[in-house]
This record gives sequence, structure tokens and C-alpha cells, in this order.
Amino acid sequence: MKILNKEILAQTPDTRITRLKVHAPLIAKKALPGQFVVVMVSEAGERIPLTVVDKDKDKITLIVQEVGLSTKLLGKLNVGDSLYALVGPMGHPAEIKKYGKVILVGGGVGIAEIYPVAKALKGKDNYIATILGAKTKALLILQNELKAVSDELVITTDDGSYGRRGFTTDALQELLGKNEYDLVYAVGPIPMMKKVSFIAKEFNIKTIVSLNAIMVDASCMCGSCRVRVKDEVKFSCVDGPEFDGHLVNWDELEKRNNIYKDKEKRICKLYKL
Ligand code: FAD
Ligand code: FES
Repeated sequence: MKILNKEILAQTPDTRITRLKVHAPLIAKKALPGQFVVVMVSEAGERIPLTVVDKDKDKITLIVQEVGLSTKLLGKLNVGDSLYALVGPMGHPAEIKKYGKVILVGGGVGIAEIYPVAKALKGKDNYIATILGAKTKALLILQNELKAVSDELVITTDDGSYGRRGFTTDALQELLGKNEYDLVYAVGPIPMMKKVSFIAKEFNIKTIVSLNAIMVDASCMCGSCRVRVKDEVKFSCVDGPEFDGHLVNWDELEKRNNIYKDKEKRICKLYKL
């Protein structure tokens, strides 16, 4: 579980996105697009889920945005350091098959999460339209990698510093108005996935989202990743992370994902991070 490579992909005064290549031959052998690992940075640390963005013979690629204590501590590790623990692959893999025309929407670090799925869907001869969105140009990641597997690529930034000004959902509305598509696949902040699902429903298109529910044990025992899908209670860690976006109870998920916000802020202050 040694870090073999580290590269800063994006940086602003508020956050940083880093690509890490980690020695993990057993996980690399099994991981499929859509699956994630659970990482513990140190013995006293919490477990955080991170998508397996890529893999080769003996290593996996993780892309991590520093948003709180554990991701900031992970960002401080260097080549040669080891993770305290790494478990995976977890979750159900994405269903990779020929759908026809697919739109993938990635917002923020969600761009890293759509990449393995886009690559695999392209490998099944799907037509791929990709929409990437970032707050600002400095936070846009994997543009070239996604361009290489996309037939169409639209980039949006909230502040207009690159691509078109606005949100991924504006671009989605436009694409869906012009052409017919068979699937929408989205990963990003919850408000984005919620709006993507709402727009795609108006066009009656199947929508898959990969949920960033807060996970604690990632093994279906703590209940923190609970999400209501239609009228059923599901656990993102074992039933997901992908769900039908038209059926997710977004308001409940949004509330649940903010429950530790104040505590996490206080802990970061304590650690001077
Ligand atoms: P915290 O201090 O715990 O949280 C900081 C802020 O992020 C708070 O506002 C909190 O509400 C929110 N938050 C906490 N946990 C999560 C969570 N699980 N998802 C979304 N927001 C959260 N992040 C990446 O950078 N790269 C990835 O490839 C990636 N893949 C993921 C795959 C899955 C299946 C899931 C569930 C999440 C993934 N995440 C990914 C999100 C990542 O796990 C969280 O950012 C991380 O757990 C935050 O931990 P922290 O201690 O640094 O921040
Ligand atoms: Fe504990 Fe899913 S993370 S039940």
C-alpha cells in the first residue's frame, strides 16, 4: 500500500486535487469501473471511500480532493509513504454494455469518478457525449483523458474562466434538446446529480448516479450511508454506489450528508488544517 506516484492535478487557495498511484496488486486485479476502495490514512483515522479511477498490473489510481480532515491528511502523504489500510474493491460495478448514445456528466472531483465508466462504455462502442464542470479553470481535471474517450466534449465553469460559463446542467438541457440519448450517467455534488436527474426525467431518459453518501464502516453495519430509493431503504456501500437518479430521495440525502459538517470543521481547526 505504498504510494508510488503523486501528482497535483489542480489547486486553489481553498482546495487541492491530487492523483496518487498506490501499490495494490490484488485490488488492481479485481477492480471494475464504478467500484471504490476504503482508505485509512493512519491508525487513528477514519475510513474514507475513494473511487478506483484507473489500474494497471500492480497499482491503482486514486484522485482525491482535499475537503476535510482525512482527505487533507491523505494529501500530505508523499511518494514512499504507505497507507495505514486499504480495502477493496467495494460496491457494485457499473453495468457496462452497449446502450447507444450516452451522456456522462462529471462535476468537480466527480470528473475522476466518471472517467473509468466513460472509458469502459467507449470500449463497448457507445457514442459518448461528456459534460465536465468545475467551479473555475484551475479546478478542472482529466480534460485530455476524457477527450480521448468522448465523441463530444462540453466544458463548463461556474465563473466562465474556461469553456462555457454556467453549470453542467445548462449544457445537459441543451444537448438533450438537440439530440436523442439512451442514458445519462452523472457523478458530482448532490445538488448537481439531483438537477441532472430532474432534467433527464423530463426527457424520459434512464439516469444513473453514483452517490457520495457519507460512509463510516462501508460494510452495511453503521447505517450512515442510508438512502431512500423509491420507497425502499438502501445502503450506498453495499447496494450502490450507483442508483436510479429518478428514484433517489434527494432532499433526505442532502440533509444526511451535512450532519457532521460542524464537527468536521472543528476537528480541522484542532489539527490546524
Ligand atoms: P469531512 O470533513 O468528513 O467532510 C468535509 C465535507 O465533505 C463535509 O461538508 C462533509 O459533509 C462532506 N463529506 C463527507 N463525507 C463525504 C462523502 N463520502 N461524500 C461527499 N461528501 C462528503 N472523493 C474524492 O475526492 N475522490 C473520489 O474518487 C471519491 N470517490 C468516492 C466514492 C464513493 C463511493 C463515495 C461515497 C465518496 C467518494 N468521495 C470521493 C468523497 C470522499 O469520500 C469524501 O470527500 C471524504 O470522505 C471526506 O472526508 P474528509 O474527512 O476529508 O472530509
Ligand atoms: Fe455503514 Fe454503509 S457505510 S452502512
